[in-house]
Amino acid sequence: MSTDSFEAENCRTGASPALRSVGNRSGCPTIACSEQSAGVIARYRDFLPISESTPIVSLGEGDTPLIYCPQLSKRVGRSCEVFIKNEGVNPTGSFKDRGMTVAVSKALEQGATALICASTGNTSASAAAYAARAGILCVVILPAGKIARGKLLQAFAYGAKIIAVEGSFDDALRIVREISHHNDFAIVNSINPDRIAGQKTAAFEIVDTLGNAPDFHLLPIGNAGNITAYWAGYREYQACQRSMKLPVLIGFQASGAAPIFHDRIIEKPETIASAIRIGNPASWKQAGAAIAESHGAIDIIYDEEIIAAQTWLARHEGIFVEPASAATVAGVFKCCESNDTAYAFQKIPEESRILCTVTGHGLKDPDVIIERMKELKSVPATVNDVQRAIRL
Ligand SMILES: Cc1ncc(COP(=O)(O)O)c(C=O)c1O
Repeated sequence: MSTDSFEAENCRTGASPALRSVGNRSGCPTIACSEQSAGVIARYRDFLPISESTPIVSLGEGDTPLIYCPQLSKRVGRSCEVFIKNEGVNPTGSFKDRGMTVAVSKALEQGATALICASTGNTSASAAAYAARAGILCVVILPAGKIARGKLLQAFAYGAKIIAVEGSFDDALRIVREISHHNDFAIVNSINPDRIAGQKTAAFEIVDTLGNAPDFHLLPIGNAGNITAYWAGYREYQACQRSMKLPVLIGFQASGAAPIFHDRIIEKPETIASAIRIGNPASWKQAGAAIAESHGAIDIIYDEEIIAAQTWLARHEGIFVEPASAATVAGVFKCCESNDTAYAFQKIPEESRILCTVTGHGLKDPDVIIERMKELKSVPATVNDVQRAIRL
């Protein structure tokens, strides 16, 4: 590769001019901090289905903060430490970007000229952004009227072709599967194994930061791709001795959209957490295997608990997440404080490390909070009036 095309390639990966100057000829930056900010393919290339001929499409995803949460730890007690992996700070505001960089890079390598996905919102935002970066068309099929405003706005801003169907996410995915059989579209839902491969890098990052796998890992479940990916990542890192143990996985579904918990398809899933409003998860079997092999559990969370946890997390730890993500935090409370829980924390070993993935940023889905906000009343622009207003 010439120096010019090497630079062009590195520009495409999202590397800064400074990173370009330290990159190697395969397009991978060569120093540790550069690798982190250049995206998950640059950082974990050896663990991914990437070859010299794969054109890398990246927006610098991954390397998300792993945040120790003192208030949440106090709530668990027993000298346990609770950490949050904040996936809401990925380029399009959700964990989907980790899988999308791999799926879109592989789609380009295989000659795809268009992407297609069904979505509860975040996949469409992510696919649209990476398609724009790659310079190809993105078609998103969405359940009409069921997508959070911020996510729909993202897909529109990135220039996706948006089609709303009068049905559920499960209907949208069925249509996507059929269309892609007869056309040259690459599906970038989590049924695409390249998505799962990219998403497993979150488990790698957790182990690389903590020095080992956590004892427990809690996360929300919708189509069940993410739990499948985490389990693959943890197992792979254990197999090459980068970690010495595997976590217990505990998944949470919304009570009105809990097919795995109830072990039956839910025809009309309902929950305020639109990202996990799914009645027939594509990776159901893999999720079941991950939970069984990790000796974990699946549980349900009510909408009121989700909203309460969203507010609590923002106000006590300074982390604002969308409702689906807050199901994880509500899950921590349930494991600690409820008698009716699928996994009780009362008897877990002291000093356990508990990892919670929060999957998407709170600004994507603000409607519930906007409704609760009182109208902001203005006061005259004097110190006295302002002091009175803040009751000093
Ligand atoms: C914010 C958020 N959390 C959780 C999930 C569920 O992930 P999965 O479908 O991989 O189970 C999704 C899926 O769209 C999501 O967007």
